[in-house]
Amino acid sequence: MNKILESSGSVIDRQSTENLRNKDNQHYLHPWEDIGSFGENQRTVAVGGKGIYLYDSEGNRLIDGPGGMWCTQIGYGRKEMAEVIARQIMRTPYYSPFNLTNDVSAVLAEKLAQMTPGDLNTVFFTTGGSTAVDSALRFVSFYNNCKGRPEKKKIISRQDAYHGSTYLSASASGKTRDKNFQDTAADIISFIGSPNPFRRPVGMSEEEFRDAKVKELEDRILELGPANVAAFIAEPILASGGVVIPPAGYHKMCLDICRKYDVLYISDEVVTGFGRLGHWFASEKVFDIVPDIITCAKGMTSGYQPLGACIVSDNLIAEISGNTGKGTIFSNGYTYSGHPVACAAALKNIEIMEQEKILEHVRETEPYFLQKVKELEDIPIVGNVRGQGLMACVECLLDPDKQSSLALDYEMGGRIDKKCQAMGLIVRPIINMNVMSPPLIITREQIDEMVQILRRGIEQTMDQLVKDGLWEMPVH
Ligand SMILES: Cc1ncc(COP(=O)(O)O)c(C=O)c1O
Repeated sequence: MNKILESSGSVIDRQSTENLRNKDNQHYLHPWEDIGSFGENQRTVAVGGKGIYLYDSEGNRLIDGPGGMWCTQIGYGRKEMAEVIARQIMRTPYYSPFNLTNDVSAVLAEKLAQMTPGDLNTVFFTTGGSTAVDSALRFVSFYNNCKGRPEKKKIISRQDAYHGSTYLSASASGKTRDKNFQDTAADIISFIGSPNPFRRPVGMSEEEFRDAKVKELEDRILELGPANVAAFIAEPILASGGVVIPPAGYHKMCLDICRKYDVLYISDEVVTGFGRLGHWFASEKVFDIVPDIITCAKGMTSGYQPLGACIVSDNLIAEISGNTGKGTIFSNGYTYSGHPVACAAALKNIEIMEQEKILEHVRETEPYFLQKVKELEDIPIVGNVRGQGLMACVECLLDPDKQSSLALDYEMGGRIDKKCQAMGLIVRPIINMNVMSPPLIITREQIDEMVQILRRGIEQTMDQLVKDGLWEMPVH
């Protein structure tokens, strides 16, 4: 650990954990901060990383279960990445994407066009996933204005969806708790139900549930009027919503409905892209759909640099470009669109993934990973374990009828994460769930280590609940 810190160097001198936590508490407002306890947090201070492990300021080694935020595909501490990034900074640390182009950004755009399905060949670079989704939604609106149908503006999204944190991408996100104290563009976005088979009505088969969800999409388009509906936006697997895997065939059927009513399909692959499901993109390879627009970010650089992209089909571009579009400006973009250092990091990251056959590794490792996490279902407080590729979710349910959520359920993710961190594993808590999306380089032995700690963390949490008189083991 000391070797990692010493060799990596830092712009600041080593400081005590207490000192760093004080600065953090006094000055750093974090994403999704519980404002009521601002200034009182005891956050783990990450100061180094190697492979699948993070090191904290106390010298502890932690498995990074969530892979940062679903993004550290090739793992931490890659010297090749550092070298490419440093070299790019010395060559061209910046260029203005508004009036110039750049060698690495142009090469990356072509590379992405080759990786995406169908005719999705036009890349709009952004600074991350939220801005990729925002750009996709703004492009759809622009496209319909160009086509002379300004009323075609409604976006259909789903409960449990997460699409980002700009005003528009947050508006398209369907997690109710995130909206309690936030305003949204509610007039534009219309929500249909989450395709979560685990929450389907008792007695309904998965196929019936899928058909009902697809019908809900069609009914909503008809209710709003097809002439008013611009797009349907969907994550192939609803990631932050709790790794919700829709029933087989759902996406294909939704795409058919979209095609029937001239509604565009935006596939938000911010999490599922770049190997998480064993392919560069999951839309076609895993779910058999070629959408109109794909959004991506995160794994594109393995988190080494912030970068996102919104990739649009030739078909859409052809309809509004050329003579039709002369003088019509797509006024959307960022100072850091196509940032050369981020693009260089993405190209190197992709090269590493190709050379180390990381997509193949994910496909080979997936069955083992899923089998191991699924074994956790024998713990009485675990209601459901689900996953695909190298992403999984353990959902705790204290209520045995599995339909209602007890207040205590809401604390479960946090309680388990705390126990696991004390034993060397970070598992991202989301209400009563803990999600995992480890670096894609994870080995079988490391999966064993991760799942063993998670098991102990859940069991210890359960024992604590019983000890504190908060929960009783159900009698069968
Ligand atoms: C599916 C999806 N879309 C968009 C985003 C937003 O990406 P970012 O946080 O990079 O802005 C996320 C982030 O987790 C995501 O999971």
